[in-house]
Amino acid sequence: MNTDSPELIVHAPGRINLIGEHIDYNGGYVLPAAIDLKIKFRFRKKQNSICTVTSESQGSFEFNLNEELQTKENHWGNYVLGVVAGIRDLHPGKLQGFDCEFKSELPIGSGISSSAALECGIAKGLNEMFGLGLSNYEMIEIARVAEHNFVGTKCGVMDQFAVMMGEEKKLILLNCETLAYDIIDADFSPYQIVLLNTNVSHNLSTSAYNTRRAECELALKVISKDYSEYQQLANIPLSIIEKYKEKLTVDVLKRATYVSMENSRTKEAAEVIQKGQIKRFGELMYQSHEGLTNKYNVSCDELDFLVDYSKDFDNVIGARMMGGGFGGCTINLIHHEGLKDFISSISEAYQNRFHIKLTPIRVATSDGVTIEN
Ligand code: GLA
Repeated sequence: MNTDSPELIVHAPGRINLIGEHIDYNGGYVLPAAIDLKIKFRFRKKQNSICTVTSESQGSFEFNLNEELQTKENHWGNYVLGVVAGIRDLHPGKLQGFDCEFKSELPIGSGISSSAALECGIAKGLNEMFGLGLSNYEMIEIARVAEHNFVGTKCGVMDQFAVMMGEEKKLILLNCETLAYDIIDADFSPYQIVLLNTNVSHNLSTSAYNTRRAECELALKVISKDYSEYQQLANIPLSIIEKYKEKLTVDVLKRATYVSMENSRTKEAAEVIQKGQIKRFGELMYQSHEGLTNKYNVSCDELDFLVDYSKDFDNVIGARMMGGGFGGCTINLIHHEGLKDFISSISEAYQNRFHIKLTPIRVATSDGVTIEN
């Protein structure tokens, strides 16, 4: 690494989502938080236009700011290129070459958004190093668009928002239509949030994600022809969706039904969490998982096994798959006294059933992207 200019250190966390899955791109409410697992970046400016980005585990790649930025199929560098391209379009001529090395604690493909952490960490680092004056909202948008155009996932705004705006010991109740948000205390004691990583990532996830989004857009298009007051699928009440049994295919109707119900669950979840009614929140988590499995069809055997297994433990208040689906983690709320027994029992059962090691991850909520002083 070039040592002539001072080093800038940036920390970018992963995120969890308590409830409100596949709701962000449908304009409803989600309830994410940034977590205490992160990517740590070291940046240095260079005096030319060459950028070298090095991942401790995945190797290096290089690009020239004066040339067209070319994506490479299935390469993590696309997240970086997308952000650089977004910044370059907004502030032509302001970027210079740089070195960036990073080390990640976020397992790839586990649904805790290592991708948004990478995008937002790069955006924040470049913003600071080159004095661009971008707001957090602008960086969130640059990161989201990078994922659409350079990676091909037509994601919503939740991951980038949580990674950028997270606060320690807090959850974010985000309205994805307006980007207005409320900050809620993340106090679940005596329960703890534990992720169980299936360590599988079924590779249909990007195409299936984009298909779900297209199905939801179709449902909105059909229904809003008659009900023009609805601009977002998440806001359409179930009583209206039910009138479209003839006009929508079975699958599209299922997607719309799930979205409407999950949005209601998320609003209720925010209320009950604030009232300390954690048991009710646990029920909502199980209902969310049921909808993701049977109506939205984005779960998989491994996730369903973990959620079903947890139901036999009184100390587990709630569990559901988290993130885009088809693998990754479940999120579980567990009484601290039952934690050890539950983890050892479910790990053994999972190993026996799938011959795969389960990885439990205890997480706490944390601040969003920060610059180390
Ligand atoms: C991925 C996407 C998010 C969101 C979730 C599902 O993490 O990046 O925008 O849609 O899936 O809730």
